[in-house]
Amino acid sequence: MNIILLGPPGAGKGTQAHRLVAERSMVQLSTGDMLRAARRSGTEMGKKVAAVMDAGKLVTDEIVIGLIAEQLDNASGAGFIFDGFPRTLAQADALGELLASKGARLDAVVEMQVDDAALVERITGRFTCGECGEGYHDSFKKPAVEGKCDKCGAEGAFKRRPDDTEEALRTRLMAYYKDTSPLIGYYYAKGQLKRIDGLGEIDEVAARISGALAG
Ligand code: AP5
Ligand code: MG
Repeated sequence: MNIILLGPPGAGKGTQAHRLVAERSMVQLSTGDMLRAARRSGTEMGKKVAAVMDAGKLVTDEIVIGLIAEQLDNASGAGFIFDGFPRTLAQADALGELLASKGARLDAVVEMQVDDAALVERITGRFTCGECGEGYHDSFKKPAVEGKCDKCGAEGAFKRRPDDTEEALRTRLMAYYKDTSPLIGYYYAKGQLKRIDGLGEIDEVAARISGALAG
């Protein structure tokens, strides 16, 4: 099964993708994570995208389509979860072509609906483990032991994203409404769209996603 998790910044795409990976052995393909990895390793591309990402603007279609094409060639598992990709109509068309060229198809596009006030609260409280990438929140998902990652046990490795400032978030939200939200109509017209309420406990949202994928 190949699915897209579609939603604004802070909708919970990464959180829910991690659960699907653990529960269904699917492979998460997050272009945001790939771009952050390129920055960390200091590649030319990583240097090129750093300022764009920190400002909350979209990286070019060419770069992200290239990243996804590479991963589709190399990764394997019980299906792909596209997280944060596609984000423009050009990326959506490219994904359709890439999957078709492999004899694969998209099974569902899950739109996670969360209102702006909740997004701001989620983004400004977010932190992740720098070792394993597990996501946390100051109020909604605290580690069992302060300063220590529940998943990998790393201590003092938590960090916050440079684009999680209020100003960058405004730009990211605008990019979502302007460039990404047209994908809702695009996938609705193709009969692939499943809309779920992304508000509520993380477990509740996970159950709604499972229901949408089963139905
Ligand atoms: P990307 O990394 O994709 O960021 P994003 O879309 O802005 O989304 P986030 O990762 O911020 O949110 P999320 O939905 O994953 O939420 P999370 O699960 O962490 O992209 C970053 C940048 O890279 C872009 O701005 C752009 O520059 C570039 N880029 C990436 N892909 C691109 C593309 N395809 N084209 C062009 N440019 C691209 O949850 C957020 C917080 O809320 C966490 O703390 C979590 O613990 C908490 N939480 C989650 N669920 C719940 C819940 N149900 N209740 C309470 N708290 C919750
Ligand atoms: Mg994410």
